[in-house]
Amino acid sequence: MNDPIPTITFADGTEVPSLGQGTWGMGEDAGHAKEEIDSLKAGLDLGMAMIDTAEMYGDGGAEEIVGQAIKGRRDETFIVSKVYPWNASRTGTIDACESSLERLGTDRIDLYLLHWRGNYPLTETVEAFETLKAAGKIRAWGVSNFDTDDMEELLSVPGGRNVAANQVLYNLARRGIEYDLLPWCQSRNIPIMAYSPIEQGRILHHPELIRIAKANQATPAQLALAFLLERDGVFVIPKTSTIERARENRDCISLDITDEDWEALDAAFPPPAKKTPLEML
Ligand SMILES: NC(=O)c1ccc[n+]([C@@H]2O[C@H](COP(=O)([O-])OP(=O)(O)OC[C@H]3O[C@@H](n4cnc5c(N)ncnc54)[C@H](OP(=O)(O)O)[C@@H]3O)[C@@H](O)[C@H]2O)c1
Repeated sequence: MNDPIPTITFADGTEVPSLGQGTWGMGEDAGHAKEEIDSLKAGLDLGMAMIDTAEMYGDGGAEEIVGQAIKGRRDETFIVSKVYPWNASRTGTIDACESSLERLGTDRIDLYLLHWRGNYPLTETVEAFETLKAAGKIRAWGVSNFDTDDMEELLSVPGGRNVAANQVLYNLARRGIEYDLLPWCQSRNIPIMAYSPIEQGRILHHPELIRIAKANQATPAQLALAFLLERDGVFVIPKTSTIERARENRDCISLDITDEDWEALDAAFPPPAKKTPLEML
């Protein structure tokens, strides 16, 4: 194995490796279950302890896959799951969490997120999150797809300051958050979780990404992940169902990119010059 994965420390002191694993698309087809479980296990072997899932993925099927992958190794795993906005009422959140725990085959979720903003008032969802925390069913809670104004509103509700993370779309082709949301979160010690870090594979054919990756004996996916991991307080959660790609993604940690190459990447994927609304997939 190569260099250890750098860690990020949450406000409550929990330290977690910054490169984790996504699960969107898993648990949809029983015929692929074995490769999905094996790939997540390989990721854990490689130190990618954070596994991101949601009640939405595979209609609960992804949580079941995660449950299989972490059997006997719960303590080396940091599980993130998410509640649908339409379940995020005072009681609905509790019920959704109980169902997720059952599918995951565990007694606690490390970080439980509101998947995106819906119609229930934030006060209600936060109250439910705090109830779950007090009961030991979740260790921490956070949000997903929240722009800066949503975060400001969240911090103004009772208990809102306990938000542990914000999971958003962030990759080379979607750098909008660098203008305001990212610095806003960094200055408050609220980690960002970058989802779709390789734009679901779509950016991997970009000629400049390919050129710079080649010059560094790396693959385009590795360079795209390394770019995100350069930022303070950013978790990166690529999804793969193959052991080979889990290894490939893990190896991005060892890249040592020159300033010149980062500048070339900036020229190919320019940072934002003004505020743009947060994008989501
Ligand atoms: N909060 C939200 O609203 C939200 C939204 C989207 C995603 N997410 C989370 O973020 C995770 C990651 O995002 P994502 O799944 O949308 O996209 P992604 O991680 O950017 O890309 C995943 C796709 O890239 C392929 N891939 C992975 N590693 C590769 C490599 N080294 N070379 C070439 N192809 C590679 C995968 O195929 P194989 O599996 O065949 O390798 C898969 O098709 C999700 O799984 C989910 O947990 C959250």
